Amino acid sequence: MSPETSYRGRRVLVTGGLGFIGSNLGRRLVELGAEVTLMDSMIKDYGGNAFNIADYKDKVRVNIADVRDRSAMDHLVQGQDMLFNLAGQVSHIDSMVDPFTDLEINCRSQLTVLEACRNHNPSVKVVFAGTRQVYGRPESLPVSEAQLVRPTKNNEAQAHSGQLTTSFMAPWARGYGVARMIAEAVENHARKIGLSVLNLDVRETQEAAITLYRSLGYHEIGRHEHYARVDGKFVAGFYFWKDLREVSA
Ligand SMILES: NC(=O)c1ccc[n+]([C@@H]2O[C@H](COP(=O)([O-])OP(=O)(O)OC[C@H]3O[C@@H](n4cnc5c(N)ncnc54)[C@H](O)[C@@H]3O)[C@@H](O)[C@H]2O)c1
Repeated sequence: MSPETSYRGRRVLVTGGLGFIGSNLGRRLVELGAEVTLMDSMIKDYGGNAFNIADYKDKVRVNIADVRDRSAMDHLVQGQDMLFNLAGQVSHIDSMVDPFTDLEINCRSQLTVLEACRNHNPSVKVVFAGTRQVYGRPESLPVSEAQLVRPTKNNEAQAHSGQLTTSFMAPWARGYGVARMIAEAVENHARKIGLSVLNLDVRETQEAAITLYRSLGYHEIGRHEHYARVDGKFVAGFYFWKDLREVSA
């Protein structure tokens, strides 16, 4: 079914409906023939603004309510075919100044909405707002429908480095004498995908692995006395790193 016909006559609830995305979505849904309810808390200085729907306010139902209010949500979800959940506290600064309110609206209230659906309208289709953090940096702007999906860089300042996990090196690889080959294969792949640093850590009892890493040019940066616990006793471990741009001797 095409979007042009699939919303005709359908009952759609939009939380955060007087905000930027909600009000534009609401306008489009009305054009497509949906029966639209826009709900919004209109908390001062948040994104909700009556101006956003001034041109079509007579064609929708507007409900001033708060997604934190369970009884309001229990009531509003009833009879809806679709729910676009766009209510949110979107200010990064406010999330630092008042983190508990941010948590209440952006996290706890998601459960309030879902629980309302589960208990009062389990067949409603729910659409949540995402963020560009999910699909990473766009290849080009404006973002088109077809984009290369890159892994999310949760921490861009450290996106140049990777972790060489040591568990796969022992004991199988060392037992068959292929540990060096595997480590070098990992390094080559890391270089190929643009990483310039590999970090690793290893238990001090894994002497063969430590010798191998040292011979591969890994620099030791520290020792952790309580790295692991075996049979109730602490075992130390080492941390290493390697600059992949360094040419091995
Ligand atoms: N605009 C973007 O580029 C973008 C990008 C990624 C994600 N998002 C997400 O999309 C959603 C909508 O974003 P937007 O740009 O339209 O923001 P917006 O601030 O314009 O809209 C959010 C709306 O939610 C309402 N709201 C806030 N707290 C509420 C509460 N407790 N109960 C009911 N309503 C409440 C606000 O009044 C506002 O109208 C948000 O969840 C946002 O994080 C937006």
